[in-house]
Amino acid sequence: MSERTATKGERGPLRLTRNRRLTLYVTVAGVWITGVLWLIYHYFLQTEGPFGFENNPLEKTWLQFHAAFSFVAIGLFGMLWAIHIVRGWNMNWRRWSGGTMVAVMVVLVVSGYALYYVESQELDDITSVIHWSVGLAALVVFLIHWLSKSRPST
Ligand code: HEM
Repeated sequence: MSERTATKGERGPLRLTRNRRLTLYVTVAGVWITGVLWLIYHYFLQTEGPFGFENNPLEKTWLQFHAAFSFVAIGLFGMLWAIHIVRGWNMNWRRWSGGTMVAVMVVLVVSGYALYYVESQELDDITSVIHWSVGLAALVVFLIHWLSKSRPST
């Protein structure tokens, strides 16, 4: 049988163990929710200080949690690459949504790295918007990838 014509019964090895799936869901939820919390606190919940509006102190906390979840997410990505992604791609299972998921992850990691290490306010402003827009959309891509059960090529 060719690599690209996998039948449903062959999906077994691509399925993650319960613990790995749980770790993945908690991490994805953690990275996404902390990113959204940062956005809400940064754009809508500034505090008023003696010299006008200031960043809400919790903003930094959400970013610290966000960075922590991101480290775990990158580790999990390595795990997924080894046991799930390359194999799923070769079997043509959910290739579009899976491939998009990988592209999204690359953009998030590169832009996240730039946000942390590039010291240019101008660049940061652009990178920030790219990072969080792609980050917000990532949930939709993840849901499509996750929920498209029956069609191997989506
Ligand atoms: C695995 C994927 C991700 C990685 C590796 C990642 C990494 C990072 C890093 C390193 C930072 C900078 C932290 C700092 O400056 O201290 C950051 C900031 C941020 N991330 Fe992510 N992130 C990811 C996913 C997401 C997602 C899914 C969202 C959206 C829900 C998101 C929203 C944000 C926001 C709003 C910021 C703050 C932007 C700013 O400082 O201007 N990130 N991320």
